[in-house]
Amino acid sequence: MKLFKDMMEQDHEQLVFCHDKVSGLKAIIAIHDTTLGPALGGLRIWPYATEEEALFDVLRLSKGMTYKNAAMGLNLGGGKAVMMADPKTDKTEELFRAFGQFVDTLGGRYITAEDVGSSLDDMTTIRSVTPYVGGLPDTSGDPSIVTGYGVFRGIQAALMHKYGSSDVAGKTVAIQGAGKVGTYLMSHLLDAGAKILITDISPERVKAAVEKGATALDPAEIFDAECDIFAPCALGGVINDESIPRLKAKIVAGSANNQLLEARHGQALAQRGILYAPDFIVNGGGVINVAQELDPAGYNRELAQAKAGKIYDILLEVFALGEEKGLQPHEAADLYAEERIEKALAQKRVYIPC
Ligand SMILES: NC(=O)c1ccc[n+]([C@@H]2O[C@H](COP(=O)([O-])OP(=O)(O)OC[C@H]3O[C@@H](n4cnc5c(N)ncnc54)[C@H](O)[C@@H]3O)[C@@H](O)[C@H]2O)c1
Repeated sequence: MKLFKDMMEQDHEQLVFCHDKVSGLKAIIAIHDTTLGPALGGLRIWPYATEEEALFDVLRLSKGMTYKNAAMGLNLGGGKAVMMADPKTDKTEELFRAFGQFVDTLGGRYITAEDVGSSLDDMTTIRSVTPYVGGLPDTSGDPSIVTGYGVFRGIQAALMHKYGSSDVAGKTVAIQGAGKVGTYLMSHLLDAGAKILITDISPERVKAAVEKGATALDPAEIFDAECDIFAPCALGGVINDESIPRLKAKIVAGSANNQLLEARHGQALAQRGILYAPDFIVNGGGVINVAQELDPAGYNRELAQAKAGKIYDILLEVFALGEEKGLQPHEAADLYAEERIEKALAQKRVYIPC
């Protein structure tokens, strides 16, 4: 059977197909690995053309969450949900109530959160039927603030590894995407004395960034920008055969997920002497922020920000692991996450009386 073959290929634990006639809900929840704890990962709402496309995405994304949560030192496993719907036209209260009920049936094995296509308001509706949802407006809220800070710390770590100093003062950073994360990142960099080149397909967002001190670039020019650091904060797949030869930067570090179009592009960056800071390490502040909500003491922004600051240390450990094992940073990041899961698996289980 194809479904089990797909699950076995990447070692997924559980797939849940969710359907509700009244709301038209068609969703898939994928739990990849719960060795470290309950599976945390967002709900993606996308008008997938086929069921196969939705399945492919949820399997890939849930595995990615296992690696990200493990690397961030969280006691959380990896999961993700996808909803086959158009986020612009198909959202209804019934849809999210139905989805939330399916999340609830898992009894906490999967905790959902915001992702592409879903919003903080949607999470509030889901919360009305299940407690297993993170990133609520009245607690951790918009994760971009903490993500932006984590990316800033990632850039400092990359500078330290490359030049022996984490100082960003006087460095030029080219940011692709003046959205939420790109803008928070820009503020930290400007405060620390960096020069910012920025681009976006939205002229309003570029204008707002220029008013804060950035220099605008055309979206087509960003890969050719004279800069020290290229920070992709818009789309995935931007590090590819076409962009790599154009890059003037010596470091790539940004928030976008899946920046390397293919794994071989990590190798191609290294061949050009460009240090790649693996995306799922650099952008882990978002998940750190949501996870902080699960703390029994309650959500605390300062604590979440402090934990995201540790991305600096994690990234230095990943670079060191790569050097020790002869791996490129993107390979070392995978190994770093896998080693944490393997250690947890190997640990002796102790009996806890009820
Ligand atoms: N928000 C978070 O906490 C978080 C956490 C982890 C990863 N990420 C990833 O970081 C990236 C940015 O997230 P965000 O929350 O800031 O999203 P956002 O939608 O607020 O910002 C993205 C920006 O990129 C711009 N953009 C799109 N295509 C572009 C192009 N071709 N050239 C230039 N600009 C373009 C958009 O107009 C938008 O302003 C995304 O890839 C997201 O998946 C975000």
